Amino acid sequence: MAWLTNLMTSSIGRKVTMSLTGLFFVLFLIVHLSGNFLLLAGDGGRAFNHYADFMAHNGLIQALAWIIKLLFAYHAVVGLLLWRQNRLAKGQRYAVRVTDNTGFAARNMIWWGILLGIFLVVHLQDFWFKMHYGPIGMKDGVKDLASVVYEEFSETGEVIFYVVCMLALGLHLWHGFDSAFQTLGARHRKYDKLVRVLGFIFSIGLMLGFASIPVIIYLTGH
Ligand code: HEM
Repeated sequence: MAWLTNLMTSSIGRKVTMSLTGLFFVLFLIVHLSGNFLLLAGDGGRAFNHYADFMAHNGLIQALAWIIKLLFAYHAVVGLLLWRQNRLAKGQRYAVRVTDNTGFAARNMIWWGILLGIFLVVHLQDFWFKMHYGPIGMKDGVKDLASVVYEEFSETGEVIFYVVCMLALGLHLWHGFDSAFQTLGARHRKYDKLVRVLGFIFSIGLMLGFASIPVIIYLTGH
């Protein structure tokens, strides 16, 4: 068990678990974005509602969903601890040097992270809480979650909030990829540029994909 304590408390151990949880979230985000695109199917939200109903009634998916929420909390707490540790250690040598390849994105990692933490609390309360615990209308025999989303994104303030948060997501992911691959030792001089370019394209892709949903719903009504 000493290795586990070491993994959770040492600077390098914390960076490894931050990297692994971060890469796991990327898988979640790809699945989440794909499902959310059903909101734009132009069928009054029917396909999305059936997809959400399937997700809500599948035991394995619900178990994974709770694990993801716990890992988000873990990632946030350890991220804050690492940030504080790095600030206290300023001027000393780090166990792992913080890369600065992504400049502005890297230097403000903590702020993108804090904004994303706030986003997640608001986001879960907006949709997930309503779907599972709130009163919600029915359509075709399933909960009409799509109408909740359409209504939410008819408000200018909500759309601006989501777009700003997705910008933070893009910047957080961009440096996150770079940092994770370096921490996990998956960087080689030969492939360094390729890894960085792929990380950049991936972050921008997820950012634009997620940001497009509230904007398109706002502009078209569904
Ligand atoms: C802006 C585009 C997004 C839309 C339209 C959207 C929509 C939704 C909806 C409708 C739900 C409720 C699903 C359900 O409970 O069955 C949900 C849940 C969730 N969303 Fe998002 N989401 C977006 C972006 C994000 C982002 C960027 C993240 C992470 C950084 C995220 C993390 C989550 C999490 C963790 C849940 C709870 C999943 C569960 O426990 O089932 N979402 N989202």
